[in-house]
Amino acid sequence: MKLFVLLITLIALKPTHVVGIESVVFDNTSGTPDTRFKHEIGVSYAGLTLFEASNFVLKTFKQTLGGGQNYTFIEATVTSFQGSGLGSYPLQVAITGGNQILLNADYVEAYIGDVKAEFTGILYHESTRVWQWTANGAAPSGLITGIADYIRLTSGWPSKNWVPRGSGSSWDEGYAVTAYFLEYCSGLRDGFIADLNAMMKYYYSDAFFVQLLGKSVYELWDDYKLQYGGNPPAPALAPGSGY
Ligand SMILES: *[C@@H]1O[C@H](CO)[C@@H](O)[C@H](O)[C@H]1NC(C)=O
Ligand SMILES: *[C@@H]1O[C@H](CO)[C@@H](O)[C@H](O)[C@H]1NC(C)=O
Repeated sequence: MKLFVLLITLIALKPTHVVGIESVVFDNTSGTPDTRFKHEIGVSYAGLTLFEASNFVLKTFKQTLGGGQNYTFIEATVTSFQGSGLGSYPLQVAITGGNQILLNADYVEAYIGDVKAEFTGILYHESTRVWQWTANGAAPSGLITGIADYIRLTSGWPSKNWVPRGSGSSWDEGYAVTAYFLEYCSGLRDGFIADLNAMMKYYYSDAFFVQLLGKSVYELWDDYKLQYGGNPPAPALAPGSGY
């Protein structure tokens, strides 16, 4: 394993206190058939992007003292999932637990198109998973992945494989379907995602949508869908699902 970049971002907690968040990326692909990470992305770019992604996530969440996860570093490892028992077909994209991100080098290898752009978006998604609240895992998984893809979307790195806006048959279908719905909700209230995330620290209720936007999540979903009159339900996620 090769340690490459270690970057530190300063996050203001109180006017007189700052805490550093280190971003560290390991390339574990040496000696494997996976060469595209090294050639088309590289640890230097990955480390810088991981660093920028945390800044973007924390800014979106408006996190301040007491609102944070208290991590002092984020670590990402690019490694082959093959034979590791981590995932098979369709290729698992990444796994995040706590402040540790595992990125599948086999997914990078098999990706068709601009893999650097795809990888950048994945880092924004996974960085969100590190920092977001999930009501200790009790929040709907579709909302959790939807918030992560909302951040990926607003960072400017959506996936070219995403379904179009207005797709999907339920608000908590997850990933891009929910991300586009949350984008609509964010247009109704400044700081919506920051407020929703903050409310999800200890428990979750659909009533949060009523509290923040004055309508139930089902009414909001109907309002959102009305803007698009008739996109068919989203197909199953394209190869490369689960991140
Ligand atoms: C690094 O790759 C080797 C196989 O090439 C694997 O056994 C090991 O678990 C990997 N390490 C991590 C942290 O993924
Ligand atoms: C973060 O630190 C504060 C102060 O020590 C503590 O009250 C809080 O529970 C910690 N948060 C987490 C997620 O561990």
